[in-house]
Amino acid sequence: MQVFNNGAEWHNYWIQTLQTHKSIGFVPTMGALHEGHLDLIKASKKTCDITVVSIFVNPIQFNNAEDFEKYPVLTDQDLSLLRQEEVDYVFLPSMETIYPESPVLSFNFGNLENVLEGEFRPGHFSGVGIIVSKLFNIIRPTIAFFGQKDLQQVAIIKRLALDLSFPLEIQVVPTKREKDGLALSSRNMRLTSIEREKALLLIKSLNQAKNELLTGESWLEVRNKVQQLFEEEALTQLEYFELVHPETFEVFSEFDPHKKSSICVASFVGNVRLIDNLSINP
Ligand code: PAF
Repeated sequence: MQVFNNGAEWHNYWIQTLQTHKSIGFVPTMGALHEGHLDLIKASKKTCDITVVSIFVNPIQFNNAEDFEKYPVLTDQDLSLLRQEEVDYVFLPSMETIYPESPVLSFNFGNLENVLEGEFRPGHFSGVGIIVSKLFNIIRPTIAFFGQKDLQQVAIIKRLALDLSFPLEIQVVPTKREKDGLALSSRNMRLTSIEREKALLLIKSLNQAKNELLTGESWLEVRNKVQQLFEEEALTQLEYFELVHPETFEVFSEFDPHKKSSICVASFVGNVRLIDNLSINP
């Protein structure tokens, strides 16, 4: 496994892979790697000739300074995990390499970002758009892999690739869950044991809502019940629980079994903000 810190270094490897007609799979991460990231890496290794993983905690996608400061940084542990997984290359850039100056550019993803994560985390998707564009320009992958847990991010990145004609494919990998259903996230390691237990309310409420919708209850009723559940649990603070089209992020006020739909949830559990989603009609 080779670790590189800047685009110039990578360019030499890139020329070599190009000359040997090899495909490049790319897994962008913010480190603190878990089994969910490993699934993305496995998907890349299965599909592509070489796999590149980047580790960079991107400050401009955090709308909350405390969240950025507390974001776990476990570089040595991450690198040994990537070595075990036999990843070919790791891009580990410094802040100065990525942001020699603060970017003046910003992105506006229109209706895709006016709701849910975009509404509750102003500027977040612009920050994601900038870092992902930079990484795509530096790595120039054949396929980039993203997790379905960040459903709205997937929609934003697909749109970014389309609008800016990035010559690559985006592959989406299903959400990896603990045995009890909790979606894996680097933020989970900040939960206390009691918060970890309460965090199950996210997946429980998604499953409950899905079952009730499929047995004919109205979305309004279903959502009211879920809001009540979160209100009764002192350690959680629900931000949103919405039924949306998983690609356009149109927010639905009722469930139509003929339309693609997913339920998305965001809630604080203690001081940790978690998100999850469940597809109703793929
Ligand atoms: O999903 C993430 O970990 C981040 O948003 C990403 C895509 C690596 C950009 O910083």
